[in-house]
Amino acid sequence: MNSVPEVQESDPGTQAHRYHRIFEATVVAFWEIDLADMQAMLAERCRESGLKPADYVRANPAFIRQSIDSCRVLDLNTRAQVLFGVDRDTALATPFGHWCPPQAEAMLLDNLVAYLSGEPGYEGEALMARADGSLFPVHVSTAFPQEPVSPPAGTFAIMDISDRIEREEALARLNTDLIRAARVATLGELAASIAHEVNQPLTALVANGNAALRWLRRPTPDLQEAIDAISRIVEDGTRASEVLARTRRMATKGDGDRAPHDFATIVDEALAITRWQLASLGAEVDLAVAPDVGTILVDKVQIQQVLINLLVNAAQAMVGIAAPRRIGISAHLEGAFVRVQVDDNGPGIPETVGQQIFNAFYTTKPDGMGMGLSVTRTIVEGHGGSIRADLAAGGGASFHFTLPRAD
Ligand SMILES: Nc1ncnc2c1ncn2[C@@H]1O[C@H](COP(=O)(O)OP(=O)(O)O)[C@@H](O)[C@H]1O
Ligand SMILES: [Mg+2]
Repeated sequence: MNSVPEVQESDPGTQAHRYHRIFEATVVAFWEIDLADMQAMLAERCRESGLKPADYVRANPAFIRQSIDSCRVLDLNTRAQVLFGVDRDTALATPFGHWCPPQAEAMLLDNLVAYLSGEPGYEGEALMARADGSLFPVHVSTAFPQEPVSPPAGTFAIMDISDRIEREEALARLNTDLIRAARVATLGELAASIAHEVNQPLTALVANGNAALRWLRRPTPDLQEAIDAISRIVEDGTRASEVLARTRRMATKGDGDRAPHDFATIVDEALAITRWQLASLGAEVDLAVAPDVGTILVDKVQIQQVLINLLVNAAQAMVGIAAPRRIGISAHLEGAFVRVQVDDNGPGIPETVGQQIFNAFYTTKPDGMGMGLSVTRTIVEGHGGSIRADLAAGGGASFHFTLPRAD
C-alpha cells in the first residue's frame, strides 16, 4: 500500500507547478473531491421537494452519506497518502465516503450546509478512517470555490489532531485524579466525624443486644420486648453500614459522570457526612432550599465534595467568634441554573485577598492544604457553572455558585 507516490509532471516555473509543489510539500493532508455527482443529485432532490439546497440537506441528513459515497477523489497529496495509509491509485479509485465513517457525517453535513449557504469556508473536527479501518481525530478546513470551476471540486485540508486530543484527555484525567485526591484528603479530615457516625449505632447496637438478652433470660422471657430490642439492633446495623457505604462512595466514585439528582437529597447527605464535625465546631446550619429547585444534572459525589468543603471551611472560620455560629445554605432557580449560596458569620474574607482564596495552596490555617476551594472551583466550572466569594449580609463570608438544572 504505502508505496512512494509518483510525482505528477508539470512545467517548472508555471503557476500549476508552484501550486503542485505547495500541495505536495505541506504537512497538511489535502484531498480534492469531485462534487459534480453530488450537485446533480442535490439539484434533482431540490426539484422534487421544492426545497432550497441548504434546507433540503438540513431536513435530510441521510443525504450526506449517499452523496459522499458517490464523490470521486480527484487528487490527494503525499501527506494524505501517508496519513490515511493508502497509495494514490487506490485512493483515486475509491469514493471519498470510504474515508468518512458515520462519526464524520455531522461534520460533513455542517460543511455542506456552510457551502450551500454561500460561506467562504468551513472548519470542524471529526473522526476519519484510515485504509486499515482504524479511526483517528482530525481537524478539517475547507475553502469553497468562489467562482464556478469545472469539474466542481472541493478541497479538504486535514490535520491529524490525535496528539492534541490525547493531551486534552490526559489533562482531564489529571483533573479527575486531583479532585479525587482532594476528596480523599477531606475524608481524612472528616475521619473523626465518620468514626463517630459509625460508633453511635454500634454503641446502641450493643446496648440493645444486652437488653434483648436480659428480656430473654428472665424466668418468663418477655418475647415482645426482646423482639423490639432486636428490631432496633437491625436498624442500628443498617445505619452503621449506610455511613460506611456513603464514605466508600465518597472515596471511590465521583469521576465526572453526570446524572439528574434531587438537589435537596444531595444537601441532606452532605450534611449527614459533616454533621458531627460541624457540631463539634459549634456551628449550626439553616437550610432554605426553594421548593421548586428540583433536580440538577451533576456528578453527585463531586457536588457533595463542594458542599462539604464550603461547610467545613465556614465552621472552621467561625471557631474564634462568640456564639451563635450559623451557616446558611440557600438555593433558588435562576434560568437554566440553580443558584446556591453558603453564608457564615465568621470574619469574612479580607478585601486584599478577594478571589485569590480559590488559588491552589492558598491557606491561612497552620495545617491547611489550600486545595479545598481550588478543587471546588474546578468542579463547579467543570459543570458549566461559576463560583465567587463575597461579603455576607451579616459580615461573614458568602459563597455563591451555580449548577445546571436537569431539565
Ligand atoms: N468561610 C470562610 N471564611 C473566611 N475565610 C475562608 C472561608 N473559607 C475559606 N477561607 C479562606 O480560604 C483559605 C483556603 O480554603 P481552602 O481552599 O478550603 O483550604 P484550607 O481549608 O485547607 O485552608 C482558608 O485557609 C481561609 O483562609
Ligand atoms: Mg478547606
